[in-house]
Amino acid sequence: MCGIIGILSDEPVALRLVEALRRLEYRGYDSAGVATLEAGGVTRVRAPGKLINLDDKVRAARLESGVGVGHTRWATHGEANEINAHPHASGRVAIVHNGIIENFRDLRLALEARGRRFDTQTDSETIAHLIDEGLTEGLTPRDALLRAVRQLKGAYALAVIVEGEEDLMMGARQGSPLVIGVGRGEMFLGSDALAVGPFTSQVIYLEEGDACVLHRGSRSIFNTAGEEVQRPVTQIDAIAAAVDKGNYRHFMLKEIHEQPDSASRTIAAYVDAIEETVGLPDRPGGGAIDLAKVDRVQIVACGTAYYAGLAAAYWFERIARVPATADIASEFRYRSPVLSPTTLCLFVSQSGETADTRAALDLCRSQGLTTAAVVNVPTSSIAREVDAVFPTLAGTEIGVASTKAFTAQLCALLSVAIALGRHRGAVSRDRERAFARSMMERPRLLSETLKLEAETADIAIDLSRARDVLYLGRGVFYPMALEGALKLKEISYIHAEGYASGELKHGPIALVDDATPVIMVAPADELLDKSLSNLEEVATRRGKVILISTADGVTSAGPSPARTLVVPDCDPLLAPILAVVPLQLLAYAVAVEKGADVDQPRNLAKSVTVE
Ligand code: G6P
Repeated sequence: MCGIIGILSDEPVALRLVEALRRLEYRGYDSAGVATLEAGGVTRVRAPGKLINLDDKVRAARLESGVGVGHTRWATHGEANEINAHPHASGRVAIVHNGIIENFRDLRLALEARGRRFDTQTDSETIAHLIDEGLTEGLTPRDALLRAVRQLKGAYALAVIVEGEEDLMMGARQGSPLVIGVGRGEMFLGSDALAVGPFTSQVIYLEEGDACVLHRGSRSIFNTAGEEVQRPVTQIDAIAAAVDKGNYRHFMLKEIHEQPDSASRTIAAYVDAIEETVGLPDRPGGGAIDLAKVDRVQIVACGTAYYAGLAAAYWFERIARVPATADIASEFRYRSPVLSPTTLCLFVSQSGETADTRAALDLCRSQGLTTAAVVNVPTSSIAREVDAVFPTLAGTEIGVASTKAFTAQLCALLSVAIALGRHRGAVSRDRERAFARSMMERPRLLSETLKLEAETADIAIDLSRARDVLYLGRGVFYPMALEGALKLKEISYIHAEGYASGELKHGPIALVDDATPVIMVAPADELLDKSLSNLEEVATRRGKVILISTADGVTSAGPSPARTLVVPDCDPLLAPILAVVPLQLLAYAVAVEKGADVDQPRNLAKSVTVE
């Protein structure tokens, strides 16, 4: 999880870069650094640890340049030391990067074969080399950047400066957000509006795949095809910048679109991309649990977090071969649960303040059990009270209906299941490596999945007229069906129920008619044939099925579904992280179609601190 800032001005920028990094420190503080162009050459000042270390060094360095980039780091690839701290430089180029470059190993090998020497263990250094290579071949900075980003697979937000180009700063994004701040004779780049908010109130939110070339008095933006495009300038006020909607009509839609970035940050806390290992975060509060003593996992949560926990119970059993159960917090505490001392009690909560979940935690603590929490707010009550925190790094979630926190919870829980499986010998080194690679692909595949937005909006026109909607799923997709139904009820007020597909014939099939849409979540896995039999049972009763599956699954389903939404192909165990996205988009589009108050649905609260 990293913060990015870039400033192009007539005045010295170094201290303002540090000031902006202070506002971004919540995104990580393993190291920080700035790069400026002093007397034409790239000068970097970097320091491990908190920003205060950098602040002292920058003051002492007396940097005078009017162009520079800064970065605050949450370590992903490579140790949290000064060498691995951003900005990274190669030849004439310095860059800062937020995200994960999935194919950096291949790119690095190819660059090394072409004679380039690497100084760090980071994926990010590869980007500096690619751009510099283009420059040495005579490309313009713009063309060097465009050629470099075309080679990157993964998620990135970048800010770039080039030696000898005093009136130039460039940026690019894919999967991770990046905004341009437009000042008076000044330009800014930031990983969010908060970064540039104090300097200017005019921001441009770059879209997926955009790159930009900034001069003090002008800007050009290019899409993935390299064509120049216009993006609207949005007026923000400084306070609102902390929680602004950007270009989006609602926070919920913004948060749905933030998922490649929030997943990327969360995954980076668990997956070591260099070693291709999956482990518990090695940070204060993160790793105080002796996995050797865990022989059962009891998950407890409410609402959406409970559905993440239910999916995790499948993962703990399938991947780690450890018995696991998920309970609703308000039921758990009153059912006199019988728990052995070797049970890990795992609480899942976005806010970390939900009263029912806290009460269940109290119960477990009073019995002297080992407790851990997957939480999004590190300073919350639950985070402070458990033995170990497994963080989700989704950032602030404003929409009452949880979206990015849910996928971040799935990423964290899946990582914990893999780490436990590895520890228990249920996951081989090869399997761990494969998991690590698949996890690192999530941000890109989430970006792919978000392209279903227009199709879901089209389906939503019919769906919004339904009185009842059924959601079906099997195995690890069953909790996704429950979550899809919850999203629809919460924000569109349409009655919706989630069922295990196999349970359909035991009752809910009585509800099937041509006015009750059935949404089936069934990406191709070993249970696909069984799910498709259930689909036929609905179709023969004139039920209209909307099938969410991979391309294979849709082909196997033949003509029976009324509509289909195709999610990217991937390891079926990790597919829930993608499959839930069209469910979120559908619920959102239906709510908009019905004119409902998407971000603040009636009767609900974001954080329920009463029992
Ligand atoms: C409330 C919210 C839900 C949320 C649940 C649990 O009911 O409306 O969206 O899933 O609380 O919240 P938590 O913060 O513990 O994840």
